[in-house]
Amino acid sequence: MKKIIDVAGVSKTFGKGSNLNKVLDNCSLCVNEGEFVSLMGASGSGKSTLLYLIGGLDREFEGKITLCGEDIGAIKDSKLSKLRLANIGFVFQFYNLVMNLNVEDNILLPMTVNGKKKSELKKELDEILEITGLKEKRKAMPATLSGGQQQRVAIARAILGNPSIILADEPTGNLDSKSTAEIMELFARLNKEKGLTILQVTHSEKCAGYGTRTILLDSGKIVGGEGEEAQAAPAEESVAQAEETAAPSEAEKETAEVTE
Ligand SMILES: Nc1ncnc2c1ncn2[C@@H]1O[C@H](COP(=O)(O)OP(=O)(O)OP(=O)(O)O)[C@@H](O)[C@H]1O
Ligand SMILES: [Mg+2]
Repeated sequence: MKKIIDVAGVSKTFGKGSNLNKVLDNCSLCVNEGEFVSLMGASGSGKSTLLYLIGGLDREFEGKITLCGEDIGAIKDSKLSKLRLANIGFVFQFYNLVMNLNVEDNILLPMTVNGKKKSELKKELDEILEITGLKEKRKAMPATLSGGQQQRVAIARAILGNPSIILADEPTGNLDSKSTAEIMELFARLNKEKGLTILQVTHSEKCAGYGTRTILLDSGKIVGGEGEEAQAAPAEESVAQAEETAAPSEAEKETAEVTE
C-alpha cells in the first residue's frame, strides 16, 4: 500500500519563554492511499494543529511531513500551494461559503481564482452536483440552504479538481444527527467509489465508525491507532485469535475427548 501521508516525529510549539506551549510532541503517523481515518482526542489535544500541519496550512514545526511523496518542509511556498491545490480538499466545521455567490460559484471558486475557466469545469461540476445531491440547488444562495446542505457545498468545493486527500476538521460539528449521517455517508461513498483518502477530526465515535481506522491523540501525543504501541496490540491479538480459531490437530481432539 502506498503511504500518502507520512508524519515522522512532528512537534509543534506555540508561544515563547514562560508562555511556551508544546502542543504536539513527537507525533508519527501514516495514512495509506484509500484509507478513511478518524483523528480523535479531547479538546485541546492538538487535533486541528496536526491537521493544519499535514495540510501545509502552517509550516512552523519540527520533524518531517511527507505528502504525496513530497517533503513539505523542504519545498518552497509556491510549490506547496500547487501541491495543496492539486491534491488536497479541505472541509471545516464552519462551511466558509461566500454568501453572495450561489452554490455553483462557491464550488467553482478555488479553481476559478486559480485561473481555470468555468466552461472547462462544467462536466466535473455536473458530476459533483450529482454525487453531493445538490443538482436542484445549483443556483441557490447559501443563506437559503440548511447546515447539512451548506456543508455538502463545502464538500463539493473540496472535491472539485479531483484531489487525492480530504482533510476535514469536525465536518459535522455544527450539524444535527440526520445531516451528520448524510455527510458521513457521503464521505464513505467518496472513499469507496472515488478512492479518496480521508483524514477527519471528530469528537463522535459514531462518525469515526464510518471510517476504516481511528488514531487517538492525548495532550499532543499519539496514543492509539498508530505508532509502535498501537501496532503491537492488534498483532498480538490476531496471533491469539489465530491460535484460538485454528483447527485442532488430531492429537488435540483426542486430548479434548479424554479430558471431557
Ligand atoms: N494559533 C495558536 N496560538 C497559540 N496557541 C494555539 C494556537 N492554536 C492552537 N493553540 C493551542 O494548541 C492547543 C491545541 O489546539 P488545537 O486547536 O489543535 O486542539 P484540538 O484538539 O483541535 O481541540 P478542539 O477539539 O477543541 O478543536 C490548545 O492548547 C490551543 O490553545
Ligand atoms: Mg480542533
